[in-house]
Amino acid sequence: MVCTLEVEDVDVILNGEYILKDLSICFERGLYQIIGPNGSGKTTLLRTILGLIKPKKGKILLKGEDITGKPERASYRIGYVPQLSKEFDLPVTAFEVVLDSLLLHRKKFPRFASREDFKRVENVLKLVHLNEWNKTINELSGGELQRVLLARALVYDPEILLLDEPLSAIDPIGKMEFVELIGRISQNKLIIITSHDPMLFLKYTDEIVVLNRTFYKVGRPDEILTLDVLSKVYGESAIKVEDHIHISDAH
Ligand SMILES: Nc1ncnc2c1ncn2[C@@H]1O[C@H](COP(=O)(O)OP(=O)(O)OP(=O)(O)O)[C@@H](O)[C@H]1O
Ligand SMILES: [Mg+2]
Repeated sequence: MVCTLEVEDVDVILNGEYILKDLSICFERGLYQIIGPNGSGKTTLLRTILGLIKPKKGKILLKGEDITGKPERASYRIGYVPQLSKEFDLPVTAFEVVLDSLLLHRKKFPRFASREDFKRVENVLKLVHLNEWNKTINELSGGELQRVLLARALVYDPEILLLDEPLSAIDPIGKMEFVELIGRISQNKLIIITSHDPMLFLKYTDEIVVLNRTFYKVGRPDEILTLDVLSKVYGESAIKVEDHIHISDAH
């Protein structure tokens, strides 16, 4: 089995508490979903892959290269759309954020923007349907900001994309467009996406990781989206979660 990205026997302890324990996942290619309740460790896992959290034990391997705890190695090769939070409040425009990302992830100096770079930023902003190029980050709506964050990750064409609930603030039409876009990209790039709605990306999903702190299971959607597995993670509310899945399924 060839892993593009491997989480090898990882423990993460935060504030003296195990958030992840003995976690091993081999991400090959295509689209992986990570699901689990609030506080189950999804964001922690993505931040550990990115080297932003150093695991107590275990390794993160990118095509065999050890990138554990090395954000400077990871960020060139892994695009990241962080979970939306109130922390994004920068006095720079949407266009600048995306252009900066393109230049920042270029290994060669000098990092001046060429005419082609401007064109590339324009094209990516068009791709994510963002018209508010010249608004500063704090002036954007939640959905507009998520579009900028997606553009920022896409613009430098990284090998892998980690998307942390990337569509949580996007309107229904936008969601459908993004599902198609991300599904298309997953044909030739590894994408790992966290979500509270596994049905949204189901059509494109190769495997699902269901996670609740020290418990996890990896498998095909039909192996994971069962009452038996979901109840291990969502407890008694698993029936409601499964109901929701079937209701969504019928749509
Ligand atoms: N820097 C930190 N210091 C201490 N505890 C933390 C830190 N970051 C996260 N945690 C804790 O780790 C647990 C997992 O958090 P995490 O953000 O990974 O959950 P999540 O699965 O992404 O949840 P959500 O669905 O709400 O986004 C939570 O209980 C959280 O409070
Ligand atoms: Mg999270």
